[in-house]
Amino acid sequence: MLPLVLVPQPILRQVAKPVELPITEEVQRLGRDMIEAMVHYHGIGLAAPQVNQGVRLIVIATVSGPTVCVNPEIVKSSWRKVNFEEGCLSIPNVFGLVRRPERVLVHYCNLQGEEREEWLVELAARVYQHEVDHLNGVLFVDRASKITAGRELLKDYGLV
Ligand code: NI
Repeated sequence: MLPLVLVPQPILRQVAKPVELPITEEVQRLGRDMIEAMVHYHGIGLAAPQVNQGVRLIVIATVSGPTVCVNPEIVKSSWRKVNFEEGCLSIPNVFGLVRRPERVLVHYCNLQGEEREEWLVELAARVYQHEVDHLNGVLFVDRASKITAGRELLKDYGLV
């Protein structure tokens, strides 16, 4: 099982590099291993820096199963934003309210090397945005309007 990187490890604050195309077997293996890790750690999303890989690859849980998104981008965001409580496998036991666009038009490459563009809604939109933030070294606590649990842990985690 891939070990999880926790705060305050510096890779979580670095900007990840694009995955070179075409997709190699190594990238396919990373994608599959990240799905396995996401399930194992009971997450609903995971970004490569969280398993110590500084590349632009995320996995998200969706209603149709886990999806690997290579070089994920957000093309458009809905004007409407919603508040939702977020957590992160790399920041154990901390939760906070984050306001984000309700829907996002996303563009990514799947593990088969096919370009995809689609609107994500509800939880998938939320998770995708959280994971893309990870690729830019941004953590949900940076965006949270209110920490709802684990506030006392932030200092130990080097987040305040
Ligand atoms: Ni996270």
